[in-house]
Amino acid sequence: MASKPVTPCLVILVLISLLLSHVSATPLRRLKSLQAIKELNLKGPYLGLITVYEPEEDAFFATGAFKPDPKHPFLDLSGRRFRVGKVHGKKVIYVRCGVGMVNAAAETQQMLDLFDIMGVVHFGIAGNANNSMSIGDVTIPKQFAHIGIWDWLKPNGTLGTDIVAQLDFESYNVPEGEGMNLLGRIGYRSEQLFSESGTPNTPQRLLWLQISQNWLHLATSLEGMELEQCMNSSFCLTQKPKLVVGLGGSTANIFLDNAAYRDFIFQTFQISSVDMESSAVVMTSLSNGFPMIVIRGLSDLAGGQPGPNSIDIFGPLVALNTAKAVVQFVKQLPGIGVGDAQY
Ligand SMILES: *[C@@H]1O[C@H](CO)[C@@H](O)[C@H](O)[C@H]1NC(C)=O
Ligand SMILES: *[C@@H]1O[C@H](CO)[C@@H](O)[C@H](O)[C@H]1NC(C)=O
Ligand SMILES: *[C@@H]1O[C@H](CO)[C@@H](O)[C@H](O)[C@H]1NC(C)=O
Repeated sequence: MASKPVTPCLVILVLISLLLSHVSATPLRRLKSLQAIKELNLKGPYLGLITVYEPEEDAFFATGAFKPDPKHPFLDLSGRRFRVGKVHGKKVIYVRCGVGMVNAAAETQQMLDLFDIMGVVHFGIAGNANNSMSIGDVTIPKQFAHIGIWDWLKPNGTLGTDIVAQLDFESYNVPEGEGMNLLGRIGYRSEQLFSESGTPNTPQRLLWLQISQNWLHLATSLEGMELEQCMNSSFCLTQKPKLVVGLGGSTANIFLDNAAYRDFIFQTFQISSVDMESSAVVMTSLSNGFPMIVIRGLSDLAGGQPGPNSIDIFGPLVALNTAKAVVQFVKQLPGIGVGDAQY
């Protein structure tokens, strides 16, 4: 008789303990992080620095410019490590977001939501789509386009009137072919920018996302800065790298290593660099009303080269030159907390 009421009791107990263990494990760590963030924000504002993958991070630390905060050197959130410190006495929070636009947008938003940030510097390497630029050059674009928003239609399908560019695979039978292939056509749609300065819930359609004017102007002082030409005594870029401010950059969730598509996007959008994150960082910063700038070194020709892609060969050198440009930019940027702590 006694066993009957015991069973539901046990079930409830087990359920409660399961729930408790589940609820308390994650939040406790998160609460600690939130407490640390609260303390950190009292010492803000910080400049947000965002890279993508390890070689870029290694290059940034190799400059020796980053001095970690002795009390809170880092915080782990969403599987990323946010590092807190200073560059040339200016307070920064640095994170490596991971490859692709989802990671880039998510980490930018998280950084802006949680920390007292005054603006974002995004940096790393990129593919070069402009034949007047060379491997090793560093670009600080004035604008970015997200060039991955396509409507892919059946052959002879009708593209919408809001399509701003199109690529007809159906007639792309190169080197030779008979008639149309069945890949049809894709039409490019522009991005939808939601922003705090606009009407809520009403996005603005645009191709180009603009980099903050003041920061871009400040960046022009980096033109002509000394960039390394050689990895070591025997391994060098064919020419001295240069830093160029004011070109157009592009982003898509595509690692581009294809000459035909490279030519198409250069002709169609007049973009000089291709990467997989910048537009996401720029758009998220713009949406939230924060200034931002992007600094990308050109590690390869995005498929324009005859042999293998040079990203593995020149990537580390280009990443280092890019990181040096970032450090130089931070040094010149006014309005960031220099703070009290001497470290
Ligand atoms: C597309 O249109 C062309 C010209 O009108 C026609 O010759 C062709 O058969 C059509 N292709 C398909 C797959 O419908
Ligand atoms: C120079 O760097 C290249 C590329 O990383 C490497 O293959 C080569 O062994 C290095 N040479 C010297 C002398 O360190
Ligand atoms: C390509 O790069 C050159 C050299 O920086 C620049 O003058 C030119 O405007 C760029 N082309 C486009 C279409 O942006």
